[in-house]
Amino acid sequence: MDYGEVQPGRVITESSRCRLGRVTNRSDLTVAGLFAGIGGIELGLHNAGADTKLLCEWWEPAQAVLAERFKGVPLEGDIQEVDRLPDVDLVTAGFPCTDLSQAGRTKGITGQASGLVAEVFRLLSSRPAPMLLLENVRNMLVLDKGEAMRFLVEEIEALGYHWAYRLVDSRFTGVPQRRQRVIFVASREIEPAKILFADDANERQESSLRDDLHGFYWTEGLRGLGWARDAVPTLKAGSTIGIPSPPAIWNPHGQEGRRILTPRIEEAEQLQGFAPGWTAPAAEVSSRKGTRWKLVGNAVTVGVSQWVGERIQSPGNFDGVATRVDPGSRWPLAAYGGGGEAWAVDVSLWPRESPYRHLSDLIDLDLAPQLSARASAGFLSRTERSTLNFNDDFLRDVADHAALMANDSALV
Ligand SMILES: C[S@@+](CC[C@H](N)C(=O)[O-])C[C@H]1O[C@@H](n2cnc3c(N)ncnc32)[C@H](O)[C@@H]1O
Repeated sequence: MDYGEVQPGRVITESSRCRLGRVTNRSDLTVAGLFAGIGGIELGLHNAGADTKLLCEWWEPAQAVLAERFKGVPLEGDIQEVDRLPDVDLVTAGFPCTDLSQAGRTKGITGQASGLVAEVFRLLSSRPAPMLLLENVRNMLVLDKGEAMRFLVEEIEALGYHWAYRLVDSRFTGVPQRRQRVIFVASREIEPAKILFADDANERQESSLRDDLHGFYWTEGLRGLGWARDAVPTLKAGSTIGIPSPPAIWNPHGQEGRRILTPRIEEAEQLQGFAPGWTAPAAEVSSRKGTRWKLVGNAVTVGVSQWVGERIQSPGNFDGVATRVDPGSRWPLAAYGGGGEAWAVDVSLWPRESPYRHLSDLIDLDLAPQLSARASAGFLSRTERSTLNFNDDFLRDVADHAALMANDSALV
């Protein structure tokens, strides 16, 4: 398929990027950011040269971050009370995943939270924007036999868009966080396949990863572990134990007591591509420890939307092989379509390969908090009941750490 001319590229200069913690607007690609959270999508687009005209977010801690980081950009609250959008080129919506993610309630696309995506279509039907960018969890592809995707595609096609989506792993942007998310682009002007499929770098070679630090989820351990070499597993807004919590890091070469650690919130922010301290304004309206973790876990990795923004302004070529997706069959990991037809595309989860920031270059191992006595004991007991195969050295370090922490807390 070919829908018109490739747009001329914009030069992204260093001076047009956000170097410090605050975004100032300038440029010609205009954006309305719905369900904006802490602005991961909009910051990435800004880094690609876009100008945010409106933000919509109803949670107070997130609003506090947006108000500080996107100073002067109008900020709306509940999307259900927004009457119309400004005239912009691109509407973005990393809509709530609560009913779609495995960790969530999985009520599906009609659930109370995820169903709010219908508000995006309501707003677009009264003022259609040339482009739409959606983001959500991988589970959306398979949930209810693909019902969520069918709903999105039907709504988007009814508005006259062509579309493409691709599952990507945040590590392609250089951050050591394994995070797979579906990026969905719809457009009336540019062929979305030329935005999402113009780049393919294939997964990074294992040999380029370091073997010194491994990330895992201390909240798991029974059926899964989230094991990641030279990376942390997906930062999440919730966990199997119900609270937003950091992953843990195994540091086998550390001194006794420094082998099972957790990242600090400022490091989590960097694992999502933000400057350290990005969510600090949230602390002014919420003293709950988990609030900043939830905000960061909910966010879109900045480099992911930066890549999309760069490609929107400078679409590439896509001439790869595509296979028709039959109605009712599984949604592939990448596809494009329009007018009732869908085509699967064989591309990797790594559009580009940005220079990798190794986990041990990002985490300050001297300052990283130790995993607590309670968390260590809970994790250890789950591993003892599990049938998973654990690395022996890892289990020994966890057991030593749990014993040490129990001793230390007994002394207090
Ligand atoms: C998955 S998060 C989006 C994260 C965002 N893309 C980022 O990078 O930080 C979904 C957001 O939708 C917000 N939200 C949920 N219901 C809303 C509503 N009715 N009106 C406005 N925002 C809402 C939540 O507070 C949450 O911050």
